[in-house]
Amino acid sequence: MHSTRKIKEDLIYVGGSDRRLSRFENLFPIPRGVSYNSYVLLDDKTVLMDTADESISRQYIENVVHALDGRPLDYMIVQHMEPDHCAMIDAVMSRYPEAKMVCTAKAAQMFAQFYDLDVSDRTLVVKEGDKLSTGEHTLHFVLAPMVHWPEVMVTYDEKDKILFSADAFGTFGALAGNIFDDEITFDDVWMNDARRYYTNIVGKYGVQVQAVLKKAAALDIQMICPLHGPIWRENLGTLLEKYQKWSTYEPEDKTVMIAYATMYGNTENAVNVLANMLADKGVKNIAMYDVSETDVSELVAESFRCSHIVLAAPTYNGGVQPKMEAYLSDIKALALQNRTVAIIDNGTWAPTAGKQMRAVIDTMKNMTVLENPITLKSALAKNQLASLDALAEELASQVNG
Ligand code: FEO
Repeated sequence: MHSTRKIKEDLIYVGGSDRRLSRFENLFPIPRGVSYNSYVLLDDKTVLMDTADESISRQYIENVVHALDGRPLDYMIVQHMEPDHCAMIDAVMSRYPEAKMVCTAKAAQMFAQFYDLDVSDRTLVVKEGDKLSTGEHTLHFVLAPMVHWPEVMVTYDEKDKILFSADAFGTFGALAGNIFDDEITFDDVWMNDARRYYTNIVGKYGVQVQAVLKKAAALDIQMICPLHGPIWRENLGTLLEKYQKWSTYEPEDKTVMIAYATMYGNTENAVNVLANMLADKGVKNIAMYDVSETDVSELVAESFRCSHIVLAAPTYNGGVQPKMEAYLSDIKALALQNRTVAIIDNGTWAPTAGKQMRAVIDTMKNMTVLENPITLKSALAKNQLASLDALAEELASQVNG
């Protein structure tokens, strides 16, 4: 049975959600599932905006068939050629042989790479600023390269002032009937998933996101229809404000995130002592994570949120504990910037993790590493409490200041 909702009289939500998939891109845990949004516009011409992941294929096709209600499909608009959205294009193009695929030249090339279906004589290649009239509606295409792949474009419906934003403004989290932002409480649970989605998927491309935000600012946008998560029609500023910070690598909260690795609890003990000192000095909402226990996607998201980061890790095989190493590699790859970092390392005979962690941070943009790193020799010693307190004082004065 179809499972669709009306957005406007002539605009229908035909997407669906997957609550079984454990990892998005087979990488990021999604305990709250994910939605794959897709939209049918019923104008003089009919339009389908992107498709969905193969995992919801049966539901998806039922939805599209129902929404079209016996009409042929005229345009299959492809904003993003990643398989979580393009997996059903070949099925749609085969079912509706008169449909034209509308996409960028790069997307057309990618389609041919992914699928053994020649639609070259049914492809309408569009570029920045091109418009497509479907009757009452005029769809205006805006290129959004690297948000999140190079072929991406977003689409602005000039009549209803809707931005079909592709991956931008999307979040992890399945939808449960309530597809609009004003039908759900977009609380911290949603925001954490939105942050984790943004920072891990497009965190690296802040410059490109800024370029799209500037183009979007020139449009009168009443509604945002992304490819994941709720449709924004009430509180459009909620994510826009966050996107501004995330894409400029500006921290959201002045607080300390402590990311630690520990083998037998000694490094953990040192950061517990530090956290108490920070709290005594007035630092609030300290965030502490064992990097072996917390998925790296969450560590990344928290690193984008917090202004100050304490890295604490033992030396392992002459290097940095592997989970810490993976986390550092991720925040570097995702271009995290503008953070202040403090370093604590541990080693029973040859501690070198501190130097190696610093070497990674030093390659990143606008990162400040606090001087006087602390090296534990197996465990925190009494005579190191003063150094730890000095570190807490420095962090607290910056955060509270
Ligand atoms: Fe939702 Fe970049 O795909």
